Amino acid sequence: MPILNRAAELQDEVTAWRHHLHEHPEILYDVHDTAAFIIEKLKEFGVDEIVPGIGQTGVVGIIKGRGSETGRTIGLRADMDALPVEEVTGKPWASKIEGRMHACGHDGHTAMLLGAARYLSETRNFNGRIALIFQPAEEGGAGALAMVEDGLMERFGIDEVYGMHNMPGIPAGQFAICRGAIMAAPDKFTIRISGRGGHAAQPHRTIDPIAIGAQIVSNLQMIAARNVAPLEAVVVSVTKFQAGSSHNVIPPEALIAGTVRSLNEAVQDMTQERLRQIVEGIAAAHGATVELDYERKCPVTINHDSGYDHALAVARDIVGPANVDPAVAPSMAGEDFAFMLKKRPGAFIFIGNGDSAGLHNPAYDFNDDIIAQGISYWVRLAEQRLTD
Ligand code: NI
Repeated sequence: MPILNRAAELQDEVTAWRHHLHEHPEILYDVHDTAAFIIEKLKEFGVDEIVPGIGQTGVVGIIKGRGSETGRTIGLRADMDALPVEEVTGKPWASKIEGRMHACGHDGHTAMLLGAARYLSETRNFNGRIALIFQPAEEGGAGALAMVEDGLMERFGIDEVYGMHNMPGIPAGQFAICRGAIMAAPDKFTIRISGRGGHAAQPHRTIDPIAIGAQIVSNLQMIAARNVAPLEAVVVSVTKFQAGSSHNVIPPEALIAGTVRSLNEAVQDMTQERLRQIVEGIAAAHGATVELDYERKCPVTINHDSGYDHALAVARDIVGPANVDPAVAPSMAGEDFAFMLKKRPGAFIFIGNGDSAGLHNPAYDFNDDIIAQGISYWVRLAEQRLTD
């Protein structure tokens, strides 16, 4: 079964919704207009239950099929939030709000799930219930966790949950997925080194936080080089190093910050521990004191084997096996859908955005040509997981 005819028919209308959302980007949990737009559409489609305010500004819509009281419930999730990025696309539907844009394609994700909602409300060719999950604050706000903590899974009786993200660099409309970890756990760390400042001509009277910090930065590279097995993945990137204000003064303090990315908890635990040992050990060796903040933002996004099998079969069904990569390399970026996959089985899949600018780039735009494939994926996945 290729792209559904009805999904192709919806293309223009869904594109118009996508452009509307693109023009009016909202950030983190402050997605009130986006949520209102979604609610208006879901009402128009005759979705059976519409529940706002899940995870602050998240929206859940329930579509009932046959056997809606006894059947299973499949959750389909889209993210709604934009980024604090100034758009440079010059497109007719470019952001109307200065300093904000949909630079990650969540406008497209929301529009495609609305398209699927329309289709599924019309046809109801399934046994059970579909939970449409519109999530706020994916970009660093842990909106998925907020929805989970608000009882998303229990309250709506969700049995399985699926997510989809567009991916620049993968040909438009193709799908890509892998077994197991597909997105990394993005941790962040901040290191404050306190030494003793003084005259640059008398370094022996100081405890130099810059020299100590430089050793910490170079030693952190040992984690990837010498602690993690060569075939395991880890990223340790220092992205900030701030100290000093003059050429002849050794400052008293230095600040270093960065990120750790990993694809399994054992590597994550080990990296956090080695990072702490290196930071404290080097500081102690040179008489400085140090303060380390290490924060885990979200877990590794891990596809369940059963969810992977279902998602792969549906993607192959829609675009043909030649257009689905079943073993894509995981992304070292983070994705808070991980919190939902910790609660219920399911899978996260990439849909190709073609040769566009990268995610979070001011020149990025979601590719409207993939809308029909995206809608078809949601519809077929829901119908196949809810057969009689
Ligand atoms: Ni995103």
